Amino acid sequence: MSKPWPVGEVVELKEAVLGRRSVRKYKSRPVPKEVLEEILDLAVWAPSGMNRQNWYFVVVTGGLRDRVVEICYRGYLSYIGERVERVFSHKPRVVRETRSFFATLGGAPVVLFAYAEPGPESIFTDVQNVSAVIQNFLLLAHERGLGTCWMTGPLNMEEEFNELLGVRDKKLVAIVTVGYPDEMPRIPPRRGKKVDYRGFQEDGES
Ligand SMILES: Cc1cc2nc3c(=O)[nH]c(=O)nc-3n(C[C@H](O)[C@H](O)[C@H](O)COP(=O)(O)O)c2cc1C
Repeated sequence: MSKPWPVGEVVELKEAVLGRRSVRKYKSRPVPKEVLEEILDLAVWAPSGMNRQNWYFVVVTGGLRDRVVEICYRGYLSYIGERVERVFSHKPRVVRETRSFFATLGGAPVVLFAYAEPGPESIFTDVQNVSAVIQNFLLLAHERGLGTCWMTGPLNMEEEFNELLGVRDKKLVAIVTVGYPDEMPRIPPRRGKKVDYRGFQEDGES
């Protein structure tokens, strides 16, 4: 079997974890379908509760992607914008950039819709199953030189997206913008460690 991954493009897992950023400005260069297929084929090797693998993805580009952007912006104007402007009233640059991102999705040529197929487990399990694939997807896309932005801001437009895509009986968990980056995003600071280690011996033996 031939290698599924082009030699030379592999990055260290640690580099991928640290180097991945939310990208909000993309080149118009299209993303080949085969690249997206390779990434998704690997991303779905995520764990899932009861191994249900109850995810469903729709990947859009072209004219359909333009209609997705229109819906996102309408969502911004009718709902999220007001919240963003309130929360970031002291940061006009954040308000400007958020509005512009929702109006264009940063020119991302591809948008991934990540759905859960509801089942007997709780919605929390369903969302975690899909989220595990999304995080794999972000890291693998980064490895391939692609930028992404995981977005839940547009979820209030779920019904309109479902109508556009002809999706029924599924829960939209997130959308993800995908494309070749046209910016080097600043690195948002991380808060201090929120971990308590209990029961470990001081010498680290246990
Ligand atoms: C569940 C989730 C929802 C998010 N929703 C949005 C969103 O709606 N719009 C957006 O611009 N970024 C969104 N983000 C991206 C975060 O803002 C970003 O991950 C965070 O600021 C840290 O930056 P980094 O990804 O570059 O490390 C979301 C991230 C997650 C995990």
